[in-house]
Amino acid sequence: MANIKSYVKENKDRFINELIELLKIPSISADPAYKTDIIKTAEAVKISLQMAGCKIVEICETPGNPIVYGEHFINKDFPTILVYGHYDVQPADPIELWDSPPFEPVIKKTDNHPEGAIFARGACDDKGQMYMHVKALEYMLQNNALPCNVKFMIEGEEEIGSTSLEWFVKRNQDKLKNDVILISDTGMISNEQPSITTGLRGLSYVEVEVTGPNRDLHSGLYGGAVANPINILTKMIASLHNENNHITIPGFYDKVIEATAEERAEMAKAPFSLDAYKSALDIEEVYGEKGYTTNERNSIRPTLDVNGIWGGYMGEGAKTVIASRAYAKISMRLVPDQDPDEITEVFTKHFKSIAPNSVKVKITPHHGGHPYVTPIDNIGYQAANKAYTESFGVKAIPQRSGGSIPIVALFEQELKSKTILMGFGLDSDAIHSPNEHFGIFNFLRGIETIPLFYKYYVELFKNFK
Ligand code: BES
Ligand code: MN
Ligand code: MN
Repeated sequence: MANIKSYVKENKDRFINELIELLKIPSISADPAYKTDIIKTAEAVKISLQMAGCKIVEICETPGNPIVYGEHFINKDFPTILVYGHYDVQPADPIELWDSPPFEPVIKKTDNHPEGAIFARGACDDKGQMYMHVKALEYMLQNNALPCNVKFMIEGEEEIGSTSLEWFVKRNQDKLKNDVILISDTGMISNEQPSITTGLRGLSYVEVEVTGPNRDLHSGLYGGAVANPINILTKMIASLHNENNHITIPGFYDKVIEATAEERAEMAKAPFSLDAYKSALDIEEVYGEKGYTTNERNSIRPTLDVNGIWGGYMGEGAKTVIASRAYAKISMRLVPDQDPDEITEVFTKHFKSIAPNSVKVKITPHHGGHPYVTPIDNIGYQAANKAYTESFGVKAIPQRSGGSIPIVALFEQELKSKTILMGFGLDSDAIHSPNEHFGIFNFLRGIETIPLFYKYYVELFKNFK
């Protein structure tokens, strides 16, 4: 029986080429123009699971994009691991900032990836990380090394809020029954210092529209005498943070659980270079909430950010105009125990209250999600820790992430199980940005680490029983 390291070594070129083929399909969920590519990708994921040897594989239709579901049962007395991932990707825009076309994968070396990285939209988020699980399953099935039952659920709407997955999970509690959920859709500190994500932020996302006069006006004839929606909107947005960069919305912090001094001291032990952070982003100084470190600001603290703002004349040259309307998209990242619906409500109430009578304000909520924290005293976390430690030769450390995977809190609510976030990406992998990439080292090491999680999880599960 081949061990996992030699299996990966022998098959690495094939693994990389298979991933490259998957990355060529532009499965962009945000744009309906790519619907046939979404279907094609779901089909390709289905075939990959079948080729790996997974006994049952099906495409489950939903009101939106299909979900690929797989199941391989070996014994009802053994635990069941449910693997979740997503095959949809973010739009590639702005396309002109890519050094090579987003759906024509190429391998190039970078400072953090001296062994090379695959550059393509979705390489790290999440096709590459999802595919590690397919290859790990292939290894276990081809080598008689699968120690438990496994289910796969790969969706196509993560980047647009997992609406259909929620619909699917609520209707299939029995089918999806499991002992632990395993996801690779996050990152780790570095290739030398593996970490396990123990928290995800929640999200409240709103679009605001400020309307002034009923039509665009000549900025000379009317300027100074009527409210300019863009001036008003920017002023309102600026008032949402005070001089300490605290958010000023009444009630916003009411349910925030403050990290204890011990937790903060523990967090501060993670290796982090502020200089490297600043130079990677070409900034002179970091910026954020007073009283918190950079790593605290981007993980255990809630935030409010404008993600887009527009209105008025944006073409070539100058046009003298006061726009009738101005718009912004605003995201609020949430931490335990903030509730996305409550936050949307306090935002809406406050934002309307600060608008002068000279404008009208409309607020449209988009998808949101609850924050999530994985306890580190459960066997899933311990198994992940053993797996990373063996695979990397250094102990993994827990790390709260600033990103969101809203469906994780719903899994806990509907399926009553904990999620273990075994991510292998790096922050510098540029997910959602131009030139997204995923290290070959990370891809292969991920494939090697996953079967170790299975092994240790089953061992701990049996001892625990
Ligand atoms: N995989 C990411 C989330 C992520 C990345 C978490 C890195 C932790 C570390 C996921 O695909 C994502 O982009 N989520 C969105 C939320 C969603 C509702 C669009 C996000 O965090 O913006
Ligand atoms: Mn993702
Ligand atoms: Mn994403």
